[in-house]
Amino acid sequence: MKKIAIIGGTGGQGTGLALRWARAGHEIYIGSREESKACASADSLKTICIDVACSLLEIEKSDIQAVKEKVPEAKISGFDNLEAAKRADIIVLSVPYSHLIPTVASIKEALTEGKIVVSVVVPLSTAVGGKATTVIAPWEGSASEVIQSLVPENVQVISAFQNVSADRLSDLANTVDCDIIVCGGSKDARKNIMELARDIPGARAIDGGPLQNSRLVEPITALLIGMNIRYKVKEGMGIRFTYLPE
Ligand SMILES: NC(=O)c1ccc[n+]([C@@H]2O[C@H](COP(=O)([O-])OP(=O)(O)OC[C@H]3O[C@@H](n4cnc5c(N)ncnc54)[C@H](OP(=O)(O)O)[C@@H]3O)[C@@H](O)[C@H]2O)c1
Repeated sequence: MKKIAIIGGTGGQGTGLALRWARAGHEIYIGSREESKACASADSLKTICIDVACSLLEIEKSDIQAVKEKVPEAKISGFDNLEAAKRADIIVLSVPYSHLIPTVASIKEALTEGKIVVSVVVPLSTAVGGKATTVIAPWEGSASEVIQSLVPENVQVISAFQNVSADRLSDLANTVDCDIIVCGGSKDARKNIMELARDIPGARAIDGGPLQNSRLVEPITALLIGMNIRYKVKEGMGIRFTYLPE
């Protein structure tokens, strides 16, 4: 069981990840700039988890006794971003690129030795008024490397979950058909986050090597967004690598 804060966890991607990880038994702290918004989001995610569990176990939700006995309560709670980050060992940054730098600054106090920061952020051109089908090139190389430049040296930054769509993650009735490339940090830190990727049913974790490779991974999302538009795949496409040894 891991303690995971999702900063910007009230948004689409954060919500999807929270649901999948809560279902896997992890403790989730939804972070928001407004604590009340985070708490409301946490409550609604808990309800979704109960609904899904009841439907899988074929329990009537009105049968409160059966729900109490058979449905494990999802461990999801809401806090302001800083408090969420303080409570967690793994801090997932899930805000639009344009708000990344002030968001990291707002949780800096919680970025202490041993914590792992995970970036799902894609530097879409929308940050500068452009299209979601292209990316801008941050001076540091990628959004993840921007984060690396802002956090203390003893905090590891991992890049992952950029190429899986929020809609697919939130659709708990179905598995996710997608590879998740995990870059950055030490081998152990990467392994830790690859385990989280494997906790999403259907997803396969791939070791993407050093954080610089995030420069190649983040733009794939812009490519996918364009392909989703051309092929009319509203819920979002995913990527798969072939001939990977087991
Ligand atoms: N959506 C996807 O399918 C998808 C897929 C892959 C990667 N991503 C990446 O994941 C990240 C989050 O995507 P999303 O779709 O979840 O984004 P979003 O819903 O637009 O925003 C996420 C959260 O960011 C916070 N936020 C909004 N404006 C802010 C501001 N001015 N300052 C600080 N925080 C602000 C909000 O939380 P509060 O108002 O509660 O503070 C919001 O709920 C993005 O970087 C995106 O590129 C998204």
